[in-house]
Amino acid sequence: MSDRIHTLSGYFHEYQKSVTEPEKFWARIADSFHWQKRWDQVLEWDFEGPDVKWFVNGKLNITESIFEKNLFTHGDRTAIIWEPNDPNEESRNITYKQLYKDVCQFANVLLSKGIQKGDRVIIYMPMIPEAAVAMLACARIGAIHSVVFAGFSASALADRIVDCEAKAILTSDGNFRGNKKIAVKAVVDEALEKSSVDTVIVCKRTGQDVIMKEGRDYWWSECLEGISTDHKAETVDSEDPLFILYTSGSTGKPKGVVHTTGGYMVYTKYSFENVFQYSPGDVYWCTADIGWITGHSYIVYGPLLAGATTLMFEGVPTFPDAGRFWAVIDKYKVNQFYTAPTAIRALQAHGTEPIEPYSLDSLKVLGSVGEPINEEAWRWYYTHIGKSRCPIVDTWWQTETGGIMVSPIAGITPTKPAYATLPLPGVQLCIVNADGKELTGNSVEGNLCIKFPWPSMIRTTWGDHDRCKQTYFSTYKGMYFTGDGVKRDHDGYYRILGRVDDVINVSGHRMGTAEVENAINEHPLVIESAVVGYPHEVKGQGIYAYVICDMTNRTEENLVNEIKDTVSKIIGPIAKPDKIQVVSGLPKTRSGKIMRRILRKVAEGVTENLGDTSTLLDPEVVKEIIDGRK
Ligand code: PRX
Repeated sequence: MSDRIHTLSGYFHEYQKSVTEPEKFWARIADSFHWQKRWDQVLEWDFEGPDVKWFVNGKLNITESIFEKNLFTHGDRTAIIWEPNDPNEESRNITYKQLYKDVCQFANVLLSKGIQKGDRVIIYMPMIPEAAVAMLACARIGAIHSVVFAGFSASALADRIVDCEAKAILTSDGNFRGNKKIAVKAVVDEALEKSSVDTVIVCKRTGQDVIMKEGRDYWWSECLEGISTDHKAETVDSEDPLFILYTSGSTGKPKGVVHTTGGYMVYTKYSFENVFQYSPGDVYWCTADIGWITGHSYIVYGPLLAGATTLMFEGVPTFPDAGRFWAVIDKYKVNQFYTAPTAIRALQAHGTEPIEPYSLDSLKVLGSVGEPINEEAWRWYYTHIGKSRCPIVDTWWQTETGGIMVSPIAGITPTKPAYATLPLPGVQLCIVNADGKELTGNSVEGNLCIKFPWPSMIRTTWGDHDRCKQTYFSTYKGMYFTGDGVKRDHDGYYRILGRVDDVINVSGHRMGTAEVENAINEHPLVIESAVVGYPHEVKGQGIYAYVICDMTNRTEENLVNEIKDTVSKIIGPIAKPDKIQVVSGLPKTRSGKIMRRILRKVAEGVTENLGDTSTLLDPEVVKEIIDGRK
């Protein structure tokens, strides 16, 4: 555990070393992993390409650092605790030894279906242990997994299948969420009407009826019959892709963020152990879904690389009641609890009564991720859940960063509500103004960039390297641009202010306004639309859509519902607009550009002093929009 930070001065010391001698710093950390062949050089990089390589020519398999390296020391330790949706259903405890067998066996299944190193495999599954087995089995054979959140629609799934040219899909019959039973395989079937794969493997979860297509679809349990639990890990290069994860940006369709193996492995374990101050024997619980980066890095890879016991929860925070999270914490004596501000706010709305039956004594660390946490939610979390004794780690990072970039080290970095505080070792932040000039010193505010590579950073966007360059490395020369606004206060602490681009964050789910507009525009009566975010008490941001449509023979109510259904169908229920306002025109400049600034203000409830409107083509439109505000 020599890589553990124990004191604040230790943090500053490590941080300093990571900046002055980054290669030496990361080599020391990487040396504690299992490498089949050590790297020739720690880092090769240029942000122009971008072309970033960590642990150059190192050979490894990430699952060997989870299993082979550790089975003698902690093979009998619980790797995954699985808590089902229904508290009356039996939970599962899977040891490292058992998980190893499951992963090896499923790796053999994948091979038997002709899946090879480098092939893309989509995982569209609920929160069941098999989903983690699926990810690790792909990694074991060197196949590239792409987990798609099981709440995405058939059409969104089809787009991803096509984009990464997936060879197989791993899925389930259905999914339990609260008191609902949701079809999963049926969505896959629908997606496969517009795309194709050779193989679909279906894990039985709900027992609902599904259609199985002969020669393409197989039951998970039947695939395992007679298959060996021994498997020698495939050798991959440090820079071979480990996974693709699709995420939204300000333009176009979601892009496939590519993470590679060596650097991601080193960084996720290092950041997990340090941020959460995880000690062997602790029970750690992250409530994210494996369909998001948080689930990848801090339910599966980081914790398992650290030999941790990671809890995987299938259900929702309010089923059977609003005390579910707290019941689960007491049931397993959870020590580190990591969730999203939106969940905290939603539970806060139920008051403290649902917490009363529970002691929450086991808790040592609370975490927050996904969106800015407002001060009120921070204080509620600190006081009522952490009983004023657990530090909160407000962790800022992104799908593209692979791991936590800015966060307190639990119990070591003094915290401040709503501040992600300080960068982790290896993370060289930089605040720039609109012209790209670095703002040095404290008490400054601007756009957040990162000026030096870190091991788990995005390498490319699948199939379109130029898009990666344009999106992240072109706005400010020689820097990775995060898309977030930030403030550095008088203490040098960082506070993330939210996105400065056309990306909105709804309940911690990232969405491009253009993506939602494109979905709305699919409705045959919609002529044009503009989507903006607005402050929402629980979700952080809500989706506000202004639409111009043909209203002949339609009531507004019908149309609004139809538009919501259209968006649900094209993206998924998470992208459904909260408010839809039918308008006769949109505020545009003479050159035809929509003035989103005005739309944003109106959606926020501002009706006066809308800023400069002199370039507007038709100022009357603004008046109408204000009058019809939802
Ligand atoms: O705007 C930031 C916000 O979420 C964005 C990244 O979203 P995604 O790639 O889906 O990853 C979410 C989980 C890592 C960021 O650009 N964000 C994430 N964490 C925080 C945050 N904003 C403020 N504070 C955070 N702790």
